[in-house]
Amino acid sequence: MPTGTRSRISARVAAVSASATLAVDAKAKKLKAEGADVIGFGAGEPDFPTPEHIVEAAIAACHDPVNHHYTPTAGIAALREAIVAKTARDSGYDINPSQVLVTNGAKQAVYEAFATLVDPGDEVLVPAPYWTTYPEVVALAGGVPVPVPTDEASGFHLTVDALEAAVTPATKVLLFVSPNNPTGAVSSPEEVAAIGHWAAGRGLWVVTDEIYEHLVYGSSVFRSLPVAVPELASRCVVINGVAKTYAMTGWRVGWLIGPPDVVDAATNLQSHATSNVSNVSQRAALAALEGDLDAVAMMRAAFDRRRVTIHAMLNACEGVTCVEPEGAFYAFPSVRGLLGRRVAGRLLSSSADVAELAIEQVQVAVVPGEAFGAPGYLRLSYALGDDAIVEGVTRLGKLFATAD
Ligand SMILES: Cc1ncc(COP(=O)(O)O)c(C=O)c1O
Repeated sequence: MPTGTRSRISARVAAVSASATLAVDAKAKKLKAEGADVIGFGAGEPDFPTPEHIVEAAIAACHDPVNHHYTPTAGIAALREAIVAKTARDSGYDINPSQVLVTNGAKQAVYEAFATLVDPGDEVLVPAPYWTTYPEVVALAGGVPVPVPTDEASGFHLTVDALEAAVTPATKVLLFVSPNNPTGAVSSPEEVAAIGHWAAGRGLWVVTDEIYEHLVYGSSVFRSLPVAVPELASRCVVINGVAKTYAMTGWRVGWLIGPPDVVDAATNLQSHATSNVSNVSQRAALAALEGDLDAVAMMRAAFDRRRVTIHAMLNACEGVTCVEPEGAFYAFPSVRGLLGRRVAGRLLSSSADVAELAIEQVQVAVVPGEAFGAPGYLRLSYALGDDAIVEGVTRLGKLFATAD
């Protein structure tokens, strides 16, 4: 084919959709910059600043010429060792530094994990509702994301029965995430063990995303999957990072932990893509991991208070039902009670319509469930100030109360 008739964008990349969560956030920020009084429930990031001792470590790192040059792709040795120590401290998982690759945020770790494990045609079980990035990166790797349904009645808990119904001879990997984005579900230690044993019995790989490990509430308990099922360790990749635990979303430091051959292969990939993560950010992450967990305890208490508020307020809204979030910082209410009804002269036929109505009529930004493979729902991050949460859900409540 002559060059002129070839498509400008490769089919592989043309198939990638924009991140709906970042799009909602960008729209809210744009309206805000134009002077609108917007309340943004879109972004999944703590509203707190990064703790001071971490910022100080970064400032010191800027002044040290050792940080002005390339460092090993997989991360500076001290940080990889700190990740080993942190992983033993927080989840009881014993690893060594050769099993750690430091990445530009957990998002790059997710990307590299699937790029490393998946061949064209391999199926990946992705519990739904799912974080919008997972199916995209699986597809980019040539894999086939296979949604595994969870439902509101069970609090969106993943079950072995649902996995069993979705597995095929082409399945290679199970993606597991608890606490969950967008549903806030936290699998119990028994559920984690049952899912892990099932995956081991089936000979599957597991990619387990532990980024919200410290954000669990009430009687919920976080359990690391390879700790619950040690025989999975040789076929398990753990994703984690500092973004959510230390209010460090903008610093872009995450990591993957895996068997050495997987880590070596993923490191080769990263060496041609982005090389080492910014040394200043790595030094900041090191200070975070070497410090205590006081800041996250403070943030968790704030998120817990906001969780109780948003859950009660959402359930009081016309046409809305919301299961109690158990972890992370998201509420995932159903708005199916509003569909087929008219609000502000507009017929609502999808949760995307409800999200559009909310931003247009009352300047409240929420992410429609369509972005997470769950039409009929909205995702609201409650990682914003207490007053903003009350004001935002009050606005939604008043708007929805006018539904015909
Ligand atoms: C489940 C999950 N994994 C990974 C990430 C990515 O985190 P990072 O900011 O470290 O790339 C997010 C961010 O929203 C997330 O919700």
